[in-house]
Order: sequence, then structure tokens, then C-alpha cells
Amino acid sequence: MRGWLGKTKALALLGLLLLLLSGCGKENLTALIPKGYGSQSSMDLIVLTTVVMSTVFLVVALLLVIVLIRFRKKKGQEDFIPKQVEGSVPLETVWTAIPIILVIIMAVPTVMAEFDLADTEKRDDHRSITVTGFQYWWHFDYEDDEIQTSQDLYIPVGEKVYLDLKSKDVLHSFWIPSLAGKLDVNPENVNTFYIEAYEEGVYYGKCAELCGASHALMDFKVIAVDPDDYDQWVSDMQSFDPEELELDAVAQEGKELFEANNCMSCHAIGGSNDPIGPNLANFGDRSRFAGVLDPTKENLVDWIMDPDQIKPDNKMKTDAYPEISEEDAEKMAEYLMELKPSDVTPDSVPDLASE
Ligand code: CUA
Repeated sequence: MRGWLGKTKALALLGLLLLLLSGCGKENLTALIPKGYGSQSSMDLIVLTTVVMSTVFLVVALLLVIVLIRFRKKKGQEDFIPKQVEGSVPLETVWTAIPIILVIIMAVPTVMAEFDLADTEKRDDHRSITVTGFQYWWHFDYEDDEIQTSQDLYIPVGEKVYLDLKSKDVLHSFWIPSLAGKLDVNPENVNTFYIEAYEEGVYYGKCAELCGASHALMDFKVIAVDPDDYDQWVSDMQSFDPEELELDAVAQEGKELFEANNCMSCHAIGGSNDPIGPNLANFGDRSRFAGVLDPTKENLVDWIMDPDQIKPDNKMKTDAYPEISEEDAEKMAEYLMELKPSDVTPDSVPDLASE
């Protein structure tokens, strides 16, 4: 290879690309390492279609090479014209039939998988959770258990969990790459599918529909835990009463500031209301907050003081509540981080991201 793109440059580019792409495959954020029923089903289809298409490519490439070598113009045959076969019925039939058969081989399992994943006939035998998308966060309502959480969705491993998806504002799309395909989240109807995780872990979820300035920050987590731990978590959440928390003096002051600054008009702590902002019942147990921030006190203080700076266009506008001093924000952060109803948390399951 000559010119500006010498061999060295080409290799360097390829190497860089490999390095970049290898960063895309976290164990808990890739459809290519399936950890659940839906993603396994997608993976099977990916393998099937890749095999079919690669076979077609190889056969065509092989035929091309054979024809190029065997039927090239030879010395002494300059005027030779080979037998003309256009309009040959057997040939036309063969290369019309083969693609049709291949398309059927790919289409039948695809359609069957689609129907299987959207099947709601047996939903009454399984757990249901209502998922609501907001700009730019997710709310989870475990109606049967009368629990609400935001941003962290807990599910038991090895069980189908039906999710009813709806939106409070614009179109979103609910996607947990490791566990299942995407499903649209619409304001005008409810879309239903199920997920099932095969392994314990914290799976990363994304909004997959451009929904506004902070679309890219509309992350959530699925915490798949052992079924016994799940029951424990449910009972911890049900019996949690924030009024009974034993708080130190600073956190107690933070609690009073939280109430005095009207935070409760949008944020419930427990209960089962129609939410305006994320429910903070298990805020101290969350693996992230504001979608992408590590749950440190520093981050939380920055967030309370200027949420718009971190997550542009989100509804927790700094001008919607009185200005909060850094000192007060620190106290409120102390309080919020005490909201830890359960020992079953993102930290109590294996960390797939580091594997
Ligand atoms: Cu919600 Cu993108």
C-alpha cells in the first residue's frame, strides 16, 4: 500500500480501532454477552443470520474465483465465444429459489422470537412492574408489593418479570443490552414485555430514543438478585419508615432542610404516590444517582446546588427551589445518604463490570 496511508499508518489505525471497540464490551452492558432470556434470543438470531450471510458470501466469492481462473481468456482462443446461457430456466430457478429459502430460514425464527418475547398470555403467573419514563429518569412501581423505586430496578434471578412501559412526557426507549432488546416507551399507550436475568449482577440500562438534552444521561440499573434476597429486599422496603431513622445531628438538620426547602413536593421517600421526581426511598443504596454520578457526598452536594449544570434541561431546575448554601447542601446530602432500607444492594451482588 502506498500514498499517505502507508502500511504502518493503516496498522496503527486498525490497532486504535480495536482498542476503542474493546472498550464497548462491558460484561453488564453488551448484547453480545447475553445474560438473560431476551438477549440470548437475540444472540441466537444474530448467530443464525451471520452464519447464513457469511455462507452466501463465501460461496459467491469462491464461485467468482473459480470462474476468474477457469474461464479466463487463454492464448490461442482470442476469438472464442463461450456458450451463451442467458434466460436459462434451470439457472434462473436456482438463484431465485436459494435466496427465498435463505430468507425463510432467517425469517421464521425471527418472527417466532418476536411473538415469544411479546407474549403476555401467561403474565398472571409472574411478577409485574410498571416502568415510567420521565425526562430524564425512570420510575419503577411494584404494584403487587406496594413499593416504588426510581433508577434502580430490583428483580429476582431466574424468573420472568413483566414490565409495563409508559412515558409521562416524550418518547423514550427502554434498553438493558445484557438482558433484552429495546422497547419503545410512549406517552399514549402501554408496551409490555418481560425480562429474565440468568445471573446475579448489576446490569446497565439506557434510554435508546433521543428524548432531549440529557438523553445520554438517562441511565438506570437493573439489580438482579437471588430470589431469597429479592424477598428480603421487598420486606425491607415495605417495612422502611424514614421517620424512624436514627440520624446524627447533622443528618437530622439535613432532614429538616430537606423538608423546609420543599423537596417533598416532588420527591417522595417511600409511599406510593404519583411521582413528580424520583422516589428517594432507597437513595443511600443506589449504585448511581442522576443516572451517571457515583453516590459520593461531593457529587450530591454539586447536584443539589446546581442540577442543571450536571444534567441539562432536567426538571429539577435550580430556580424551582430557594438557593441552597454549600453548608446546607452538605447536611442534606448526609441525610439522603442515610436512606438505606436494605442490606440487599448493588454492592451485595457480584460486580460483572470488573470481570
Ligand atoms: Cu429518554 Cu432518551
